[in-house]
Amino acid sequence: MKSLGILLSGRGSNFVAIADSIAAGRIKNAGIAVVISNRADAPGGAAARQRGLNTLVIPSKGKAREEHDREVVAALQQHKVDLICLAGYMRLLSPWFVRQFPRQILNIHPSLLPAFPGLEAQEQAFAYGVKVSGCTVHFVDDELDHGPIIVQKAAPVLDDDDEHSLAARILEREHAAYTEAINIVLEGQFKIVGRRLVRESPL
Ligand code: GRF
Repeated sequence: MKSLGILLSGRGSNFVAIADSIAAGRIKNAGIAVVISNRADAPGGAAARQRGLNTLVIPSKGKAREEHDREVVAALQQHKVDLICLAGYMRLLSPWFVRQFPRQILNIHPSLLPAFPGLEAQEQAFAYGVKVSGCTVHFVDDELDHGPIIVQKAAPVLDDDDEHSLAARILEREHAAYTEAINIVLEGQFKIVGRRLVRESPL
């Protein structure tokens, strides 16, 4: 049984999708050990509490990055997490945080990286005029939206889209992509070659 730690700051739909996948058996042999929000008012935190999950608020406001990260890492270690899923966590992790959990931290980003890293990726893609965007689940390294890619899913940009309808289409892909990526990582049948995650065929 693997223990997941979820970090979030807001709405929490990716967290809910992960929790639903565990409940439905789409992610097997895993449970959510702790959900941590850096904001007391995050709807995702409320959803976690409603589900009876261990839910912590560790406020980041007014704290130096490393100080906050130390509190979060301590909580994750206390709950003995095997894998950390950033799910709309609006904080950059310090290099020290990343080193505590090598290849054990995943992030989801609403674009086909390396296009449109950073904030408001769907709006960036829409304004740029791309015809295809999507989402990326990747390992977290020291750089923003940067580590080896685990899963990407494409979404078309339609002529009658606006940034909201595009974001909604991408979000659907996100929910499926996170479940796939967690399964790949928990199964562990892959190697990282350069930046490439290459799946190993079962013996
Ligand atoms: C998602 O679009 C995710 O890709 C990005 O932040 C958003 C979080 O949404 N990192 P939610 O809180 O999971 O609903």
